[in-house]
Amino acid sequence: MCGIFGYLGKRDNALELVIKGLQKLEYRGYDSWGVTTDLNGELFCKKKVGKISEANLDDFTDKKATIAMGHTRWATHGGVTDANAHPHFDPDRQISVVHNGIIENFQEIKDELGAENFVSETDTEVIAHLIAKYRKNHPFKEAVLKAVQRFEGRFAIVVLNVGENYLIAARRGSPLIVGIGEDEYFLASDIPAFLEYTQNVNYLDDNEMVIVDGGVEFLNLETGEPIKKRLVNIDWKAESAEKGEFDHFMLKEIMEQKDTILRAINQEEDDIMHIAQQIKNSRGCFLSGCGTAGKVCMAGEYFFSMIANRHVNFAPSSEFPIYHHFLRPESLLIVISQSGETADVLEAMEVAKSKGAKVLSLVNVEGSTIARQSDFSIHIKAGPEKAVASTKAATSQMALMLLIATAMRGELQEGRRVLADVGSKINDMLNPRFLTYIKTVAEQLKDHENAYIIGKAENYPMALEAAIKIQEVSYIHAEGFAAGELKHGPIALIAKGTPCISLVANDEVRQDVINNTMELKARGAHIIGISPEKHDVFDEWIKVPDVGVASPLVNIVPIQLLAYYLAVQRGLDPDMPRNLAKSVTVK
Ligand code: AGP
Ligand code: GLU
Repeated sequence: MCGIFGYLGKRDNALELVIKGLQKLEYRGYDSWGVTTDLNGELFCKKKVGKISEANLDDFTDKKATIAMGHTRWATHGGVTDANAHPHFDPDRQISVVHNGIIENFQEIKDELGAENFVSETDTEVIAHLIAKYRKNHPFKEAVLKAVQRFEGRFAIVVLNVGENYLIAARRGSPLIVGIGEDEYFLASDIPAFLEYTQNVNYLDDNEMVIVDGGVEFLNLETGEPIKKRLVNIDWKAESAEKGEFDHFMLKEIMEQKDTILRAINQEEDDIMHIAQQIKNSRGCFLSGCGTAGKVCMAGEYFFSMIANRHVNFAPSSEFPIYHHFLRPESLLIVISQSGETADVLEAMEVAKSKGAKVLSLVNVEGSTIARQSDFSIHIKAGPEKAVASTKAATSQMALMLLIATAMRGELQEGRRVLADVGSKINDMLNPRFLTYIKTVAEQLKDHENAYIIGKAENYPMALEAAIKIQEVSYIHAEGFAAGELKHGPIALIAKGTPCISLVANDEVRQDVINNTMELKARGAHIIGISPEKHDVFDEWIKVPDVGVASPLVNIVPIQLLAYYLAVQRGLDPDMPRNLAKSVTVK
């Protein structure tokens, strides 16, 4: 949610750099954008509702500056208007601010400062006004520190003061990363924004502030004391965060599953054994995540039960705090998150830690807040995932869940072998003929208003995940059900021609799922079977490889493609669906 990008350094086209950086953060989701700089002692600003990809760079080429910052806003307080877009200013237009998150006590501060002086409806504007108030009697740095100390809530902010050639940033709860180049510095919500300029970063932690001038100085927000930070080198390649030959990131990322499973399971044996042992030693093990990552957790619940004979409890992270009374120091919470920044997950972790429980995580972004705040974290190595819809991260997370389950059973090497086989079968499956066939299935579905997906056992979570994929990019109403639940209500929704996708693995529940599919067909449903074997009940058959208990990993791939083609055929942008953000940093 929201993108922040700031630049200070040797180049004099800072505004253009900021616009290009924000374009790389578009995937995070936003509704308006804005940029600002100090043009020879005058504050220049342009802000607007709409897409930053449509910004005309020529409008900025004559505005030479070596310092600038900008923002893509995902509105929380105040409508989507030009006036509410960031940056925001103090009444004298000397101080400008961009902000991600929410200042919870903004109303109180606004009333204190005189609400009549405000020109936007945002919570953000109080930041600039309060800094300006303190600036009257304090140096800029101290004024920022004093103001930020008063804010409640989760935020990341960057401040620029006209006439003072530096940027100050502070963070509590929302991501902000400092990129350190050669005589140049970057501040951004995510690494791909500046990856083409530098791979050296400092992660700002909660309650930290950074002053970027000819160098970087880090301070503790509460005490104002200087702190030392470790410089981290990121091994992502700039081009891995680009679309390359593909029309959309979503398709690129689906196709990358040819390799990502293999990368995910290429972990240190000791790390996997450590997690397996922690689960075994725990008394009360919970899995938690949001959206797709939550469905992976549910799949993990089945894997642990079926493979390792171990019961773990899944709760979506937004619901997890309700279970606090089950947590104690021997409990274990395993969280799964692609971005590593999801606010609901962070809150679940805080609840678990407050009870003395241990927290392990599986994340795709190294150095992310969730990774750093865990007792132990595994990097799933899927590479940057930029499409809002999670695809390759989900299958990598599932591969790791399965690997950990096999390790708990003492069969780690066998687990690796099975998953390597899955990786190579996904590679074979993603061939041009397969893609063309999925496209034709999408043609059949694209004008329908509803679609239903059924699955059982380890494929029940995949039915739920399939629904998320179809909903979020095609806006078709899709719902997933446990196959056996149909006759308890949902079957009333089926009419002649209703599209129903049935996930039929070659496992012990196969016949049950076939029977439930027959029940759908008897009510007129148009059946799309995803299965290693053909069956008469299918009107369309999407053949997937037979990979035993790993079937969720192969079953979800054609649905990802189906969702993608549905979006394209319905004239939608699959990478940036309406109302959604890639990194959900507010609760
Ligand atoms: C996935 O397709 C969704 N866009 C969404 O459900 C996502 O999985 C969820 O917001 C969790 O994100 P995370 O993995 O970054 O924590
Ligand atoms: N709360 C601020 C607003 O509504 C910032 C939102 C964001 O994170 O983009 O403007």
